[in-house]
Parts: sequence; structure tokens; C-alpha cells
Amino acid sequence: MIMIRMYICVCNAISERQVQEAVAQGAQALSDLQASLGVATCCGHCAETATEYLPGGRYAEPALDLGGLAPAVVFDSQEIRRRVAA
Ligand code: FES
Repeated sequence: MIMIRMYICVCNAISERQVQEAVAQGAQALSDLQASLGVATCCGHCAETATEYLPGGRYAEPALDLGGLAPAVVFDSQEIRRRVAA
């Protein structure tokens, strides 16, 4: 199986998935991503791209209407296999 990892921040090796997870956990601004991941804390070239993953951005995940239910952590099957194999 080939897994492709897209890096958002090359300086700090921060992947798209890490940025998406930080946003899912509540990051609302670039400063949140900088504090939690270190994205855009070196050369800064990734700042604009990272910002597009925040709510309202081009790559933002659409908000789910959970109908009052508490959010749950959802793993995809590849992630579960990786964790079980580790
Ligand atoms: S690419 Fe992110 S700080 Fe340089």
C-alpha cells in the first residue's frame, strides 16, 4: 500500500492530516496552529496554505450538524490498521 503524505509546512514537517486534526480539535486561527503544531513558525511560507484549512477556508471541512450529540473521534480503516500493527 502506498500512502501519500502531503506536507503543509516543510520547515517543521507538518502534514495536511496534522493540520486537519488540529482544526478538528478546535483550532480557529493561524495562531492556534502555530501554538499547537509549530506550523508557520520558521520561514512562514506555509502560513497562507495552513490558513485555508481553518473554518471558512478553501480546504476547511464542512461543519457537521451533530444534532446536539457530543463529537466523537473517527478513525479511518487505514489508521486503525496502522495503530493495531504498531
Ligand atoms: S514551510 Fe512552514 S515555516 Fe517554513
